[in-house]
Amino acid sequence: MRDSCGRNIDYLRISVTDRCNLHCMYCSAGLAEVLPSGRPSDDPHYLSAAEIGRITEVMAGLGIRKVRITGGEPLLRPDLEQIIAMVARVPGISDIAMTSNGIGLAGRARQLKDAGLQRVNISLDSLDNGKFAAITGGGNLAPVLKGIKAAVAAGLEPVKINVVLMKGINDDEIDPFIALTRENPVEVRFIELMPIGRFGADHSERLLSNTAILDARPWLKELPGAPNQTARRYAVPGYRGRIGLISPISQQFCAGCNRIRLTCDGKLKPCLGDNTELDIAAALRHEPERLAGLIRKAILEKPAGHHFERGFASKRSMAAIGG
Ligand code: GTP
Ligand code: 5AD
Repeated sequence: MRDSCGRNIDYLRISVTDRCNLHCMYCSAGLAEVLPSGRPSDDPHYLSAAEIGRITEVMAGLGIRKVRITGGEPLLRPDLEQIIAMVARVPGISDIAMTSNGIGLAGRARQLKDAGLQRVNISLDSLDNGKFAAITGGGNLAPVLKGIKAAVAAGLEPVKINVVLMKGINDDEIDPFIALTRENPVEVRFIELMPIGRFGADHSERLLSNTAILDARPWLKELPGAPNQTARRYAVPGYRGRIGLISPISQQFCAGCNRIRLTCDGKLKPCLGDNTELDIAAALRHEPERLAGLIRKAILEKPAGHHFERGFASKRSMAAIGG
């Protein structure tokens, strides 16, 4: 379905929980959280696997083809395999991916693949144990690396690694992350810090523009990519993996945005950088015949672009939105 700007909305990001087992410095501290964190996953405020399946079915009828499962941390849902199976059985959905911090993935990669998950993006901001712990509020690096290996072994490919760069914190790790792609068939994506979460409007002193990465590394060769992808992709001659640059600040990609978001408590969020939400949980539960109309309305009302450059204050933390 096309929105009022003529953009074809075919990508649904489903946040299945707002809980997370890490507390990343740029992500966890939110402003007004809609749900207090720490609810159990069988809390009626969370959409159930069957409800997520039903919404995906209606969405597919309106043109959604790609689904990404996000959180919080989606692996905290014990019924994640069931959620993925529900989404995978919807006719028309051809791409099912997940964004995760990778903790606990090693033991579940195979089951998730069997349930219908096709690929994973893993958030990993440092390859150094101490720094990883500092960035994530005490997290342990080893299980994440194990999770990445297990994902590759299970064929959840291409595995993409999301690195949010922060000046003075992990910007000295650009080359070690690039080196990771020499032998490993993964795509490392450097992401510009967005003004959501703890850094909020003060993010500019930590923000590193992706243009600096390119200027210092002219040997990165740009690859062709789809117009509505978040990342521009690059090859390093002779390396097995790829590099991606996600530049929401220096090269806004709103004009090609094809996304809509579903929150874990059943709200449609048409834009990451805008606070508008439309509650569909009540319609889903009590007036299912209204569902398609509400989803159409949310798509039609999708803003032309995010509001980061105007001092945006997000009502939900990134941890609750899922990126
Ligand atoms: P692929 O399907 O593999 O291309 O993944 P993706 O880039 O769509 O999803 P992922 O969850 O890996 O997100 C990577 C980064 O892009 C994160 O920092 C997200 O917050 C950011 N991102 C995703 N969608 C949007 C969006 O609509 N607007 C902005 N500004 N950033 C987004
Ligand atoms: N800026 C940029 N990316 C962010 N993410 C979370 N918070 C931010 C932010 N403030 C990324 C995470 C994860 C993805 C879903 O969103 O690193 O990989």
